[in-house]
Amino acid sequence: MRCILMNKNKEILTAEYHLSLGVFSDIYNVINIDFAPIILKNTYQSNKDLKVALSEWFKGRGIPSWRDDLDLLLAKLNISTPTELLDKAFGLSLSDQYWVKPFDSKIEYKDINFFDHDFEDSEFTNATFSSTLESNAKISLISPNNTTDGRLKKTWITEEGKRYLLKGGYKNEVMQPFNEVLATMICDKLGFKHIPYKINIIKDKIVSKCECFVDKNTELVSAHQILHNNCEKEKAYETYINILENNGINNAREEIENMLVLDYIMLNEDRHLNNFGIIRNVENLVWISTAPIFDTGESLNIIDYNDEEVIINGDGRFFYDVDNFDSILNKVHNLKRFDLSKLDGITKEFENLLYKYQFITKMTDRRINKICTLLSSRINKLKKIIESNEKGNSQI
Ligand SMILES: Nc1ncnc2c1ncn2[C@@H]1O[C@H](COP(=O)(O)OP(=O)(O)OP(=O)(O)O)[C@@H](O)[C@H]1O
Ligand SMILES: [Mg+2]
Repeated sequence: MRCILMNKNKEILTAEYHLSLGVFSDIYNVINIDFAPIILKNTYQSNKDLKVALSEWFKGRGIPSWRDDLDLLLAKLNISTPTELLDKAFGLSLSDQYWVKPFDSKIEYKDINFFDHDFEDSEFTNATFSSTLESNAKISLISPNNTTDGRLKKTWITEEGKRYLLKGGYKNEVMQPFNEVLATMICDKLGFKHIPYKINIIKDKIVSKCECFVDKNTELVSAHQILHNNCEKEKAYETYINILENNGINNAREEIENMLVLDYIMLNEDRHLNNFGIIRNVENLVWISTAPIFDTGESLNIIDYNDEEVIINGDGRFFYDVDNFDSILNKVHNLKRFDLSKLDGITKEFENLLYKYQFITKMTDRRINKICTLLSSRINKLKKIIESNEKGNSQI
C-alpha cells in the first residue's frame, strides 16, 4: 500500500507499506522530516537506513509481544499478531498525532483522530481484563487501543469527553495500581509534576486510571527517542539534560531530579527510557516541558516480594545502566530542596488505601504491614541522608 506518514495535518514522507509483512519496503519521497518522530529525524540526519528505522518505529507502535496475556487478547480480537491492528485505525494513538494515510485518500486528521472522536471501549475493556475467552463479542478495532505500549494489560476509555488509561497489575500481582496511586500521593505532597492515578475496579480486578496527558496539539517524546543514536551511553544523563535545556526546557534538571527522588523513595525498578520524556507541540515543534511523571508501578520490590520476606535492596534503572538506588540518588545536586516532613502521615494513608481494597486484593495483613514498613523506612532513610547533607554543608 502506498501511503503518506502524517503528523496531524503535515505530510512527512511517502512510502510503500506491506500490510502482510508489517514493513515499509520503499520510501519514495521525504517531504518534511522536521515533523517526523524525533527518532526518525535523527536517523535520517545521520544518514542511517530510514526505511528500517521507519518499519521498526511503526511496529513499535503496536501492542508489544511481551504484553501480559497477549495470546488471550489476540484470540479474543480474532487476529494473530498485534501488527495487524496497525492498519485498522490508521495507526492513530492517544500519545501522539502520527498516522498513516493511504496515498490516494482524501481523509483528514480532523475526521478520524481519537481526541475528537469517541471510540467503542467497553468490549475491548472486557477483552482486556476478563480472564475468560468470551465468544461472539464484537470488538471494535477502530480504536486507540491498537497502539498502546507497555507490558501491563491496558485500555483507553472515554468518559464525559475525556480519555483515560486503565492499567491492570501483572499476572496475579495487584501492587502496580496501588503504587501508581502512592506515586501520586508523594508527588502531590512534594509538588512534583505528575499525572494523577486513581484506583478503579473493572471485572473484579483492581486497575489504575489516569487521564491522557497529551492533547491533539501535543505528543509524548520518550527519552529513548531523544537519546537514540545521539549520545555516548555513559554520558546519557548529562546529555539528556543538555538536549532538553537547549530545546528550551530550562527546569529539566530539577524535574528529572524530582523523578529520581520519587523512584528512590519507592524503589522503582522500571524507569526505563520509555517511562519518561518530554511533551512537544506538534504544530510548531516547540518542546513544551518534561512529561508529567507516569508509570511508577514497578515499585516497592513487587517482583521479589513474597509473603515471607521483603528484600530491601534493589536496583533502579538509570538511563542505559542498572544501578543501586543510593548511587542514583548521588546524581541529585541539591537534596536540601526536598522537604520530606511533607510526607508525614503518608504511610498511614497508604495503609488505609490497601485495607480499603483488601476485600478484593485478599492481601494479607502481614503483607500490608511489610509494604508500609518498607515505605516508611525509605522515607526515613532519605530524611537522614538529607539531614546529614545539611549538616555537612553547614560545616563548610
Ligand atoms: N496518561 C497518559 N497519556 C498519554 N500517554 C500515556 C499515558 N500513560 C501512558 N502513556 C503511554 O503509554 C505507554 C504505556 O504506558 P505505561 O508506561 O503506563 O504502561 P506499562 O505497561 O506500565 O509500561 P512498562 O512496560 O514500562 O511497564 C507509555 O510509555 C506512554 O507512551
Ligand atoms: Mg511504561
